[in-house]
Amino acid sequence: MVKINQVTDVILEVNKVSKYFGSLKALDDVTLALPRGKITLLIGPNGSGKTTLINVISGVLSIDSGSIIFEGRDITRLPPHDRYKLGIVRSYQIPRLFQGLSVLENTVVGKDGNPGEGMIYGLLKRIWYNYEKSSIEDALAKLLFLNLIHLHDRRPGELSGGQMKLLELSRSIMATKPKLILLDEPAAGVNPVLAKEIMSMIRNIRDELGITFLIVEHRLDIAIDYADYAIGMHLGRVIAQGKPKEVVEDPKVIESYLGG
Ligand SMILES: Nc1ncnc2c1ncn2[C@@H]1O[C@H](COP(=O)(O)OP(=O)(O)OP(=O)(O)O)[C@@H](O)[C@H]1O
Ligand SMILES: [Mg+2]
Repeated sequence: MVKINQVTDVILEVNKVSKYFGSLKALDDVTLALPRGKITLLIGPNGSGKTTLINVISGVLSIDSGSIIFEGRDITRLPPHDRYKLGIVRSYQIPRLFQGLSVLENTVVGKDGNPGEGMIYGLLKRIWYNYEKSSIEDALAKLLFLNLIHLHDRRPGELSGGQMKLLELSRSIMATKPKLILLDEPAAGVNPVLAKEIMSMIRNIRDELGITFLIVEHRLDIAIDYADYAIGMHLGRVIAQGKPKEVVEDPKVIESYLGG
């Protein structure tokens, strides 16, 4: 039985959530609680349901049963954009950057979430021409904070993998009032030095802006030092929840990685 009573100040609750893809049960009666203002690490072998969980929390996928409660409010049926307005922001396992836009522009568009490619130019026009100077100043401040300011006029194609991950992060903190940021593998494919830098940026954001994070990351050796809490998944189920070291050393979690 998963213990959720260890978390006192809860920002998000997932209650008995199940999600099917055809006959495959990608989420199987998932119940968990995320502590406010903390970094929670979501771990588990490939295919265990981590990205699906991020998708149902952000509202990209609807669920078949159960409920999702954010700050005491039932958001189960809210579309992604409304969840975004409440402060739930996410990144993607494969960065969704707009190749035709500069680093600064890619950050500015974060203001409105992850708009589709079609919407984006209209949106940018509105931002630039309506003299929304504060959006641009805000974006520049985020780039400064994340050490990307010197790259503000570059295109995503000119960035390293790690810089792209940082750019996604700068875009996610552009939301009007981000409260919960869901990051799908923020340090994947990045060298260890930059991976640590990304994790420490996330910690700085938590400290300075009081934002809660749920992070999927396979680089446990690096991520564990930055996490306050951890959740282990296997075959769509939560199999461990608690202190990061205890979760990583839990025999069920170890077995899930070995057994596949
Ligand atoms: N859109 C989809 N249609 C059908 N099956 C899907 C879909 N998305 C995910 N799945 C399946 O659901 C299960 C959970 O997938 P999910 O992507 O959530 O795993 P994950 O834990 O994020 O894995 P990874 O570590 O490889 O990213 C897998 O068996 C996957 O094949
Ligand atoms: Mg995934």
